[in-house]
Amino acid sequence: MPETENRKSDHIKIVLSKDVQHKNSAGFEDVMLIHNALPEIDFDSVDTKIEFLGKKLAAPIMVSGMTGGTPEAEKINKNLARAAEETGIGMGVGSQRAMIENGKLLSTYSVRDVAPSMLLIGNIGAAQFAKGYGVDKCRKAIELIKADAIAIHLNAAQELVQPEGDRNWKGILSAIKKITKELGYPLIVKETGAGISGDVAKELEAAGAKAVDVSGAGGTSWTAVESFRNSPVGDTFNNWGIPTAVAIKWCKKTVKIPILASGGIYNGLDAAKAIALGASACTIARPFLRTAVVSYEKTKLEMERVIRELKIAMFLTGSRNIEEFQKKKVIITGKTKEFLDQI
Ligand SMILES: Cc1cc2nc3c(=O)[nH]c(=O)nc-3n(C[C@H](O)[C@H](O)[C@H](O)COP(=O)(O)O)c2cc1C
Repeated sequence: MPETENRKSDHIKIVLSKDVQHKNSAGFEDVMLIHNALPEIDFDSVDTKIEFLGKKLAAPIMVSGMTGGTPEAEKINKNLARAAEETGIGMGVGSQRAMIENGKLLSTYSVRDVAPSMLLIGNIGAAQFAKGYGVDKCRKAIELIKADAIAIHLNAAQELVQPEGDRNWKGILSAIKKITKELGYPLIVKETGAGISGDVAKELEAAGAKAVDVSGAGGTSWTAVESFRNSPVGDTFNNWGIPTAVAIKWCKKTVKIPILASGGIYNGLDAAKAIALGASACTIARPFLRTAVVSYEKTKLEMERVIRELKIAMFLTGSRNIEEFQKKKVIITGKTKEFLDQI
C-alpha cells in the first residue's frame, strides 16, 4: 500500500483504539445557556433548519472531513453519506490527495450514489500548496466527487510532529488567495484540532475564504494520534491548541464570514453552545466515525440524537428557531473567560 494510504489506514485504527482525546477541554463546560422555565413553545415546532452555501440543512450539523483512499474508508464514507442524506445534514470527505495521486481510489470518496442532494465538501491539505498544488487540483477534487465546495485543511501541528510531515508552510496564504479568485466554487478553510485564532480568521477572510471551521483543541488530538505512530514529540504537544469555545468567540469578534465549529463537539448540547457562541454550524468527526465503522443505521441514530439534543437546548432557552437561539444571552465563565479576557 502506498505511503498516503497506509497512513490513512493507521489513523483510523489509532483514532478508534487509542486514547487520542485532547488533554485540555474544548471549554463548553464554561458556557452556560440560560434556562427558560416558561418557554411557551410547542417542542415539535422548534425549527433547527439552516441554509449554508446555498443548500438547506435540517440542522446546523455536518460530518467533519475524515477519510478516503482505503477500502474501509469507502464503507465509512458511504455509511456517513447515506445517514447524512436521510437526516438532512452535510458532510465532508477526508483529504483527497490519495485520489488525486491515484485515480483508482476515486470510488473510496464517491458518495453521490447514496447522497444525491446532500451538501458535500471536498478536502485538500494546505501544505500541498507549497508543493505545487493549485486551483486545478482543487477543482478536480470537487468535480470528480460532485462536491459543492472544498475545505482546505491546516494541520501544521500534526505535520511538524510527524517524522515524514510537511515542514514548508511558506506561501500558503497567497496560494489560498489565488485559488479563491479562480476556483468558481466556495472554499472553506479548516483546522484539524488545534484551532484558528481571530487574527488568522481575518487573514483567511481577506484571502476570500467563504467560511472558517475553527476545529479547536478539546476533541481529537492529532499530535496525540501521531504519538502512537512513531512520533516521540507528538506526546509533548498533545495538549497544543486554542480551545474550541475560545476559537469560536474570538473568530466571531473578528470576521463576518460564517464560522463553523468543530473539535470536541460530542453531543447536541455542545453543538448548541457552539452555535450560541457564534458558530453558523458545527462539524463532528470522531463520534460519527465510531458509528460509521459499524453501520449506516447506527450513524443515522447518532445524528438524530445530536439534532434532538440541540432542539431540546433551543426549546429550553425559549428559542423557536436558530436565528432566535443565536440572539440569546450566553454566560462564559472559568478558563474560557480568562482566555478571552486576555485577547
Ligand atoms: C480518522 C480521522 C481522520 C481525519 N482526516 C482528516 C482529513 O483528511 N482532512 C481534514 O481536514 N480533517 C481530518 N480530520 C480532522 C477532523 O475533520 C476534525 O477537524 C478533528 O478531528 C476534530 O474534530 P473531533 O473532535 O470531532 O474529532 C480527521 C479526523 C479523524 C477522526
